Amino acid sequence: MNNSVSQNQRVLSGMRPTGLMHLGQYHGVLKNWVELQHSYECFFFVADWHALTTHYENTASIAQSSFDLVVDWLAAGVNPGSSTIFIQSRVPEHAELHTLLSMITPLGWLERVPSYKDQQDKLKDKDLSTYGFLGYPLLQSADILIYKAGHVPVGEDQVAHVELTREVARRFNHLYGKEPDFEQKAQTAIKKMGKKNARIYNDLLRRYQEQGDAEALSVGHALLDSQQNISIGDKERLTGYLEGGGRIILPEPQALLTRSSKMPGLDGQKMSKSYNNSISLREAPEAIEKKIRTMPTDPARIRRTDPGDPQKCPVWQWHEVYSSDDLRAEISSACTTASIGCVDCKQHIVDSVIKELKPIQQRVREFEQDPSSVESIINEGCEAARDVARDTISEVRRAMGLRLG
Ligand code: TRP
Ligand code: SF4
Repeated sequence: MNNSVSQNQRVLSGMRPTGLMHLGQYHGVLKNWVELQHSYECFFFVADWHALTTHYENTASIAQSSFDLVVDWLAAGVNPGSSTIFIQSRVPEHAELHTLLSMITPLGWLERVPSYKDQQDKLKDKDLSTYGFLGYPLLQSADILIYKAGHVPVGEDQVAHVELTREVARRFNHLYGKEPDFEQKAQTAIKKMGKKNARIYNDLLRRYQEQGDAEALSVGHALLDSQQNISIGDKERLTGYLEGGGRIILPEPQALLTRSSKMPGLDGQKMSKSYNNSISLREAPEAIEKKIRTMPTDPARIRRTDPGDPQKCPVWQWHEVYSSDDLRAEISSACTTASIGCVDCKQHIVDSVIKELKPIQQRVREFEQDPSSVESIINEGCEAARDVARDTISEVRRAMGLRLG
């Protein structure tokens, strides 16, 4: 959507602390986070409350898993100098916003989120009939909106949660974006842009509101975005004014869809801890070797002399991730002519995975030897996140009439 939000350069994403990270998550999610740090202001957090929604019976490892998760991020290249790294439960403002949003969220919106029924069907052995589980996506909305994040990198399964967030934000702005003196404040803000820009803005406003001119709307957004002289509050006000609504207090985020990773599990299915087909980032070289050696291959290759078809082999999918074009061409023809054995073919993957993980594991060891450095990264991140979250929550309290002035 072409509103002020698409220009918002803040990214927020979270992961639940449910055990060590595996290669699938590394290739699918974490590498993407590391990339995003170059172009956006990033907030990455451990969603420990979200872990409670499905693991409330056994919480013994949540705190340790949260710490380990941060270590994995740091080791993989998430940079605390450019990203804010924090833990959800240490920023209680998320919970306050969740409570406030729960007041305006129709029950049906939550019941209709596909993951609600899907997960209940899938995780039959778990009791997911709790209030917390129903509220899972709304807590996620609070996570996003408390930072006014413009972009939320997520996998396909989470897109509906971002969509819900957009609806909740829209409802919130609709209900509470109309300050009593909105009109007057908007007029004052227009003047602050200077004569020339004010004239352009008023003209665009008229074209959009009287003629429904969509181009005028998008030019208007660009104009507001380029203003240096007005505060963020005024920008939000003028965006709402241009769009014909109230002030945008909680901007609608966009899902930044993470391409699903090409990295399959050891058996060719999606890599997942629960399928027992994964390699963790901390896996020892011997274990990596053993796991890859025992991967299934093209079932037609019973004997060493039987030709194979890479398209029918899970190992080939790993070559797609790890091997150069040249090596792939070589392997592909050697497989179909039975001039390479599967053991040798797999050895390339063993070597590549070990090589890729070596520096990461080295950094994991360094951080583990110096846990206080990780603690201070987390402490600083939590403080920085709280500063932003506090600003939003006080704005929200005021807009909802819980505070004067
Ligand atoms: N629900 C997400 C997952 O399971 C984790 C999460 C919680 C999240 N809050 C978030 C992701 C906010 C993005 C934004 O993967
Ligand atoms: Fe699979 Fe490689 Fe064996 Fe071919 S040679 S079947 S690609 S492991």
